[in-house]
Order: sequence, then structure tokens, then C-alpha cells
Amino acid sequence: MERPVGLERACRGGEAPDVGEVIVPGERIMQRLDELAAEIAAAYPGGELTLLAVMNGALFFLADLARRLPMRVELTTVRVRSYRGREVRPGGAEIVGELCDDLSGREVLIVDDILDTGSTLDLVAEAVASQRPASCRVCVLLRKGRPDARPARADFVGFDIPDRFVVGYGLDLDGWGRNLTDIVALTEDAGDRK
Ligand code: IMP
Ligand code: MG
Repeated sequence: MERPVGLERACRGGEAPDVGEVIVPGERIMQRLDELAAEIAAAYPGGELTLLAVMNGALFFLADLARRLPMRVELTTVRVRSYRGREVRPGGAEIVGELCDDLSGREVLIVDDILDTGSTLDLVAEAVASQRPASCRVCVLLRKGRPDARPARADFVGFDIPDRFVVGYGLDLDGWGRNLTDIVALTEDAGDRK
């Protein structure tokens, strides 16, 4: 199978993971971001929003979404470390350092690349709630259809995707694939390499 443009560059110096099918083409992401931005703008008539992005996966999503929002937007970030086992399953998550800004009284929208088990977003939402924001909602680009998923706690969702390991548009495997323009699935073997 042909590798999507950009993968060879992403994997320079290491062995490229086996790439399967394109799950969401880059052009489709851009179209959906226009719709998502409109949904978000309608949900915040006050015209002010603080986007709290979970780094690094949400980097491109944050940048492209923020530039489509017609309101006053503040940007802040949080780093979450998750531990993944050989099967590319997250085994836990912790916030690295502290939230950068005081979020009390703010309309906060947490922005993340993907909702998988939900443990990352639960953790971040708890940290935000402890600062007593005016509101706290969640926006994810992707939501995986896991059989064991918790009740979905995302208020805005770009795409529902199958329960496969994906890279591209900010998502990575061991640093690989973040800069791909499409979101692509890795084969099972690629996950087992970790
Ligand atoms: P959760 O805590 O299980 O919901 O996992 C969310 C985090 O795990 C995301 O923010 C990603 O960083 C990472 N993750 C989960 N699934 C994938 C994937 O398919 N590709 C890349 N990263 C993933
Ligand atoms: Mg992440």
C-alpha cells in the first residue's frame, strides 16, 4: 500500500510504522472544522472563550479551530502524560506541571485530539473544575467507538471513528506521524512494536 505523503519524512532516522487506510482525509478535516466552529460559536453567545488544549496531540486542531472562531479567544495549554502498553492502549494519565492560567470565572473549552477511554479528559476536566470556571465543555476532533467506552463526555465531536490506532494531524505513535495531513490507521503490527 502507498504511504500517505509526509510519512517517510516523519519517520526519518527510524523504521516507518505500517500504515493502513486513510480514516479521515485532510480536506474533510478542514470542512468539518468550519462546521464545528459554527456549532461552537452558536453555543457561546457571550462572545468570549478560553480554549485549553491538551498538548501535543491537539496542536494542529487547536490552531485550525481557533482561527475559525469569530469571538474573542484566549489560548492556554496543558500537558498530559499517558502511559501506553504494547498494544497502544493508555494505561493511565497524569498532568505534567500545573494549568498555565487562572481559569476561574472563564468559559473554558477543553480541546483534545481524541477521546479514547476518556481518562485524559476526565483528569483535565477535574483540574479545570477545581478552579471554578463559569463553564467547562469538551471538544475533540476524534471519538473512538470503543466497546468499553464511558458515557461520552464530549460536547463537540469532529468525527466518530472505529476503534483503531490512528496517527496524523497531530496524533502520533512514539513521535511518528504527527505531521501527516490525513488521519490514517496503523496496522495491528505497528502497535505491537512499542
Ligand atoms: P484516553 O485518555 O484513553 O481518552 O486517551 C486519550 C489520549 O490518548 C489522547 O489524548 C491521545 O494522546 C492518546 N491516544 C488515544 N488513542 C490514540 C490513537 O489512536 N492515536 C494516537 N494517540 C491516541
Ligand atoms: Mg493527547
